[in-house]
Amino acid sequence: MQEAIKVLDAIAEKFQHDFQYDFQLMGAVAIDETGDPLPEKTLESCKRTDAVLLGAIGHPRFDNNPGATVRPEQGLLRLRKELGLFANVRPVRIFEQLKHLSVLKPEQLEGVDMVIYRELTGGIYFGEKNRTQDTASDLCLYHRHEIERIARLAFEAAIQRRGKLCLIDKANVLDSSRLWREVLQSMSTEFPEVILDYMFVDNAAMQMILNPAQFDVIVTSNMFGDIISDEASVLGGSLGLLPSSSAGNLTKLYEPCHGSYPQAAGKNIANPLATILSVEMMLRDFNLLQEADAIQAAAEYVVQQNILTPDLNTENPVTCSELGDAMASRILSM
Ligand code: IPM
Ligand code: MG
Repeated sequence: MQEAIKVLDAIAEKFQHDFQYDFQLMGAVAIDETGDPLPEKTLESCKRTDAVLLGAIGHPRFDNNPGATVRPEQGLLRLRKELGLFANVRPVRIFEQLKHLSVLKPEQLEGVDMVIYRELTGGIYFGEKNRTQDTASDLCLYHRHEIERIARLAFEAAIQRRGKLCLIDKANVLDSSRLWREVLQSMSTEFPEVILDYMFVDNAAMQMILNPAQFDVIVTSNMFGDIISDEASVLGGSLGLLPSSSAGNLTKLYEPCHGSYPQAAGKNIANPLATILSVEMMLRDFNLLQEADAIQAAAEYVVQQNILTPDLNTENPVTCSELGDAMASRILSM
């Protein structure tokens, strides 16, 4: 987060903006300080502001304790719900110079350029939960309108891109998935220029590895989107590269797709690029295109120069803060 702010400050200086920050706690640190993963003060601030930039959350202290009743993730889920952030957008872009670091062979990465539209405030994440001593259930409920509004954004994105939209679901088994197909099928007449196809999520997980270039825009439910986007993110060499934006009716939110990487705490080795590229998405949404392009160019520069953290450069890595410094000074010297 510090490096993202550093880069944003460089943008402010370069383009003469005045960004005002209001720092608030969320997640494990908020639990420690207040007992609540999303304190009221934080939520109020998020509702008042023009955009929310969120650091990754999560802590193994909670992950490994299934009995924990208060968890960092609850803060994130509540924030998404409170801000009505139903559309989570996760663009997967591959840096040419990093292809050799991918788990796939470079030739399989040719033409990979996709964006995932993940439904973010419904489905199994938010359905009714039931627990007895020996049973547990999580309901996956979708309303037609919840599917329509994310699908509309995905169709519109497809028009701006290569005109392909793929719905990932499990319609051979799940009723909720069959509703998704029904809704998208009937909407597709409104978007004749978009080629709509469907893929079962198990097959999609495999296709993501076999032939990722086939995907243009993906639209999917909350849970499938969570899983498939982590898978897609490593195509480019590191989960530390994938940014995201979440939109609803109120304030938009920007966050990296990765977790909090607790193993890196205090070591200054985490990759700040996913958060910095989330800032780029934010600037683009504010229609500050030159500013966003400057961040993109600076990111391309550090990648080209191999000014990268240990996840992407094992030989002579830089620290997290050095990467932020390099991008900030690159922006100022443009
Ligand atoms: C993500 C994360 C979150 C999610 C967790 C931290 C609750 O994995 O944004 O992808 O599952 O949505
Ligand atoms: Mg996830």
